[in-house]
Amino acid sequence: MTTTEPETADTTAFAERVFASALCALETMSIHVGDRLGWYRALAEHGPLDPPGLADATGTHERYAREWLEHQAVCGILEVEDPDVAASARRYRLPAAQAEVLTDRTSLDYLAPLARMITGAAGKIDALLDVYRTGGGVPWERFGADARDAQGDINRPWFDHRLADALASVPEVHDVLSRPDARIADVGCGHGWSALALARAYPDATVDGYDVDAPAIDAAREHAAEAGLGDRVTFHVVAGEGLPDRPVYDAAFVFEAVHDMPRPVEVLHAIRRAVRDDGVVVVMDEAVAERFAPDGDEVERIMYGYSLFLCLPDSLSTTDSVGTGTVMRPAVLDGYAREAGFSGAEVLPSRDSRSSGSRACRADRASARRPRSPPDAPAVGCRERSRRARPEASDPCFWPFREEGGD
Ligand SMILES: C[S@@+](CC[C@H](N)C(=O)[O-])C[C@H]1O[C@@H](n2cnc3c(N)ncnc32)[C@H](O)[C@@H]1O
Repeated sequence: MTTTEPETADTTAFAERVFASALCALETMSIHVGDRLGWYRALAEHGPLDPPGLADATGTHERYAREWLEHQAVCGILEVEDPDVAASARRYRLPAAQAEVLTDRTSLDYLAPLARMITGAAGKIDALLDVYRTGGGVPWERFGADARDAQGDINRPWFDHRLADALASVPEVHDVLSRPDARIADVGCGHGWSALALARAYPDATVDGYDVDAPAIDAAREHAAEAGLGDRVTFHVVAGEGLPDRPVYDAAFVFEAVHDMPRPVEVLHAIRRAVRDDGVVVVMDEAVAERFAPDGDEVERIMYGYSLFLCLPDSLSTTDSVGTGTVMRPAVLDGYAREAGFSGAEVLPSRDSRSSGSRACRADRASARRPRSPPDAPAVGCRERSRRARPEASDPCFWPFREEGGD
């Protein structure tokens, strides 16, 4: 005979939570489908549409189009003109707010890439299960074009709309970038949107973007050519460890990439060598809490999710990786900075009123061949943002380093 414990309120509440998570997972997959098949774009451009109209406009199968339209309507993503009309003649509309979030690549609220990235990671679940059992990793290239393109797309609006103002608000950084003929390195540049934004913001500057991922650099070169910035922005398939070993740059940036790097100390050390003594080094990474705590906020929850399914397996795919993971606490970066010859990092209050969940830190650069800078040594900042689901809550945080004398 089987006995069942009586259901408690906690059990019921947790079962409801898991059920709600399943609903969200299905919705995320359906958003990916609508994005990849062009269904949202067709509805935004030609809607309202019925199932045959949507299938015709996108070269897709009518019965599946109908099922998706009905799913989207019951989920409250699409509006339906008249629910009582026969299923194949029912017309659906994409409201303006949904159209912006799901189709406007320039909007700070553009979140279709989030569904693309999550679904791309889910597609590799068997490989992930293997490495969770045995160790090793799943390299970024195995996640494929969806994950790579999603990474570029999700950060692009913030770089395009916010990076210039963020940098201008830090005089120590802005002054360096405003030098005549300033030279800037963007390490781990991915699709290059940050490098292009830097070049736009500082018209006298030249920018070198570095990344180990060749397809991302190919895309970055295309974006530079399309933007007409190919003369001032150059992209290299070169790891951060391989930067010039002399101080050729006025400034170096690492946007949302230190936590991915298998050997972050080596990269920071190479950066330190490649930047002039009177330059600045700026690291922007996820705006996570200072320390681990259970029942974390949304930033913590999404960053651990990214870490589990994307960043950590990518990082651990390299032998001898330190395996940072997406949740790189300020103290971890501080430790990397010190090991690389900087004097450390100090958390700063964010200067962005909308970034309540973000934080800032400062670091002083210290030469590897001289004692660390005193605690009150001048410091310079950098901005950081997180890949959060809600862009307004993901704005910058500073992780700055300053050149305080050279090697
Ligand atoms: C999360 S993506 C960020 C890309 C881009 N900075 C952005 O904000 O969209 C991290 C990037 O770091 C790159 N990366 C990882 N290790 C690297 C290394 N050692 N040197 C240069 N790039 C590296 C990856 O290829 C990837 O493009």
